[in-house]
Amino acid sequence: MTDVTLSSKNPTAVKAEALVVATAQTSDGVAVVSDQLPTDLLTQLESLAPQLGVTGARDEVRKIPAGPQLAAEVLVLTGLGERAEDGTFATETLRRAAGAATRELAGLKSAAIALPASDDDEITAVTEGALLGAYAFNRYRTGKDSAKDTKDAAKGAKNGKDPVAAIEILTPLHKNAKAKVAAERAQVVAAAVHAARDLVNTAPNDLYPATFADAAKAAAKDVRHVKVTVLDDKQLASGGYGGLTAVGQGSSRGPRLVKVAYTPAKPAAKVALVGKGITFDSGGISIKPAAGMEAMKSDMAGAAAVLSTVVAAAKLNLPVAVTGYLCLAENMPGGNAQRPADVITIYGGKTVEVLNTDAEGRIVMADGLVSAVEDGHDVVLDIATLTGAQMVALGNRTSAVMGTDDVRDEVKAAADASGELFWPMPLPEELKSNIKSKVADVANSGPRWGGMLNAGLFLQTFVGDHPWAHLDIAGPAFNDGGSHGYTSGGGTGVGVRTLLAFLEARATTAK
Ligand code: BES
Ligand code: MN
Ligand code: ZN
Repeated sequence: MTDVTLSSKNPTAVKAEALVVATAQTSDGVAVVSDQLPTDLLTQLESLAPQLGVTGARDEVRKIPAGPQLAAEVLVLTGLGERAEDGTFATETLRRAAGAATRELAGLKSAAIALPASDDDEITAVTEGALLGAYAFNRYRTGKDSAKDTKDAAKGAKNGKDPVAAIEILTPLHKNAKAKVAAERAQVVAAAVHAARDLVNTAPNDLYPATFADAAKAAAKDVRHVKVTVLDDKQLASGGYGGLTAVGQGSSRGPRLVKVAYTPAKPAAKVALVGKGITFDSGGISIKPAAGMEAMKSDMAGAAAVLSTVVAAAKLNLPVAVTGYLCLAENMPGGNAQRPADVITIYGGKTVEVLNTDAEGRIVMADGLVSAVEDGHDVVLDIATLTGAQMVALGNRTSAVMGTDDVRDEVKAAADASGELFWPMPLPEELKSNIKSKVADVANSGPRWGGMLNAGLFLQTFVGDHPWAHLDIAGPAFNDGGSHGYTSGGGTGVGVRTLLAFLEARATTAK
């Protein structure tokens, strides 16, 4: 990951390849948000803004030669949009602007960032944003197809650029202890989000339940107080985990249930995080159409977020015990695959009529949820790319949260604090008839209308009245469009920041 340091250098004096400065929209044009750059440079930039195509709008990034007044080589202007009424910028705006800028710095060795960073929250936002934008997934690029560019090929360069190697965050608080803690936390958070993105971006022929379990062991290796236990397909079948077994049986790569437990000495709370880990969702016998099916390598984004969150909680020494339950299976058609009309028994004994094998996420999550409730946590959160209906309701960038009222609101507050977009959704009693089965305790799918809520109600069947929230991240987990803010294409790592903020809040307000 990109190296970060805090520094109090004057922006004019930093000898970096690039200097990042913010622009804003004002009533009479563009303002450069810096009181440390020479006034004549500011005036010049602001008056030339129209010719430079600089408007100060959010997500706008422009690179220009730095000129003789700056020690840096290139000046990068990143837009913040309009100031809030109190004259400040929202921390999420800073996070996005920092990330949009670092995305444009790929291939460079060094950059300095002179965005507003005069308190812990701003330092957190700028550092997190800068690191979240400094991400590239180049695992599968060999550089061999760019042989035309013989110079690069000779150096063994990949055709994807690596993120900027080192950044300095310019702040008057560079020696302040709390500021340093904020920057260190931001680095742990960003590493966790990157790790979740990497898992989502890994091709499904490389990432399947057994290798995901290996990845969990590798991620937890040498992390204090974290223990990983794996149940393999045979143990799942004999242990009564009928959901994971049924979904996984169509694949030659058997399912796994991975528990990742972080147990600090005197935990203030005990939290379970259950993640959907369908390493590829073909739909099974109820097979999906070919168009867009490749995006279903991201159907394990919930489990990836859970693994990253537990490891980050341990690295941050949070005084909260957290157990992640990774519900891992590959949903494939095949001679041994489950059929529509099969009746299966979830861990704990409830029966499910499988009406649609493409509603597989809720089936594996049922095993994980029953297991989590049985283990006796204060609260259970689950996170899953569960329904296409989530995207119909909220689009590609806003996730949904459902559950018991107080936990749902707690998750929403954590999302707001972390800068992730979540919106509360109801679990209406009267929709329960949608998932009634003619033969079993419950059916795994119902009518199209309210599809996200039907899925939430299905999960609720397995948690009873235990404090619980369900996070549906179907749309936001995978960005199949262009990059924006600190979000690159592919896996986004959504959920990690919200889950961590939830744990941090529980750590301070133990219930
Ligand atoms: N993994 C999908 C949901 C999904 C769709 C996530 C698109 C991300 C992008 C899930 O397993 C699924 O197929 N759900 C079905 C449920 C239906 C059959 C009741 C859906 O939403 O269509
Ligand atoms: Mn599916
Ligand atoms: Zn799925």
